[in-house]
Amino acid sequence: MSNTAFLTVAGAKRWDLYGPIHKGLRLAHSQMLIRLGQADFTHDQSALMADLRTHLALGAKHLAHEDRHIHPALERRAPGAAVALEAQHGHHRRRFAELERSMAKFEGASIPERAARGRALYISFVALVAEDFEHMAEEETVVWPQLCALFDDAELAQIEMDIIAALAPDEVIAFMRMMIPAMAPAERASLLGGLKANAPAEAFAAVIERAARPTLSTADFDVLERLGLAA
Ligand SMILES: [Fe+2]
Repeated sequence: MSNTAFLTVAGAKRWDLYGPIHKGLRLAHSQMLIRLGQADFTHDQSALMADLRTHLALGAKHLAHEDRHIHPALERRAPGAAVALEAQHGHHRRRFAELERSMAKFEGASIPERAARGRALYISFVALVAEDFEHMAEEETVVWPQLCALFDDAELAQIEMDIIAALAPDEVIAFMRMMIPAMAPAERASLLGGLKANAPAEAFAAVIERAARPTLSTADFDVLERLGLAA
C-alpha cells in the first residue's frame, strides 16, 4: 500500500506507528478487565476463558510484531535503543505465562475454591494491564519520537506495511475489531479511507462487515455510511 494516508492519524504530524494499535489494545484490555471484574466465578466461565485466551494470544502477537519489525530497525540506526523494550516485552511474556497458570488453576478448581481462584486470575490480569498501559505510553512518548528522528514517514509506513503483510486475513480482522471502535471518528475515517483506496475490495468489505459493523454504535456506523466508507 503506497497511500501514506493509511494509518496516518489526525493530530499526529508524523506516521503514527503505535497510536492506532495501542488504542485498540487499551480498549480491549479495558473491556476484558470489566468482564473479569463482573464475572461470577462460582458459575461456568468457559466462554470468558476462551475470550481471555484469544485476547492474550493477540497481545502476544502484538509483542512479536514489535520484536520482529520495530526493534531490529531501531537497533540498526541506534544500537542499544531497543534493549529496555526487549526487557519489558520479556516481562510481559512472563505475565502471559503466569496468567495461563492462573487460568488453569481456576479451571481445575473445586466449586468452593472457584471464587478465590477467579479473584487471583482477575488480579493477575490487572497487573498485566497496569504494566502494559505504562509500557505502551513509554513507547508512544519516548520511543516514537526516537523513531521519528531516525526514520522518515515513508520508512515508518514501510515498517507498518511489513507488519500487516505478515498477518493472515483472520488476524487482520481480529486487530481491526480492536482498533476501529477505539479510534476517534477522524482517525477511523482516515484508516478506512486508506484501506478502501489500497486494499482489494473483498478485503475492505470483510473489514467493514466483520470488524466495523459488529463493533460500532449505529451512530458511528452511520458516519461511515455518509462518508461512503461502509461498503
Ligand atoms: Fe511494546
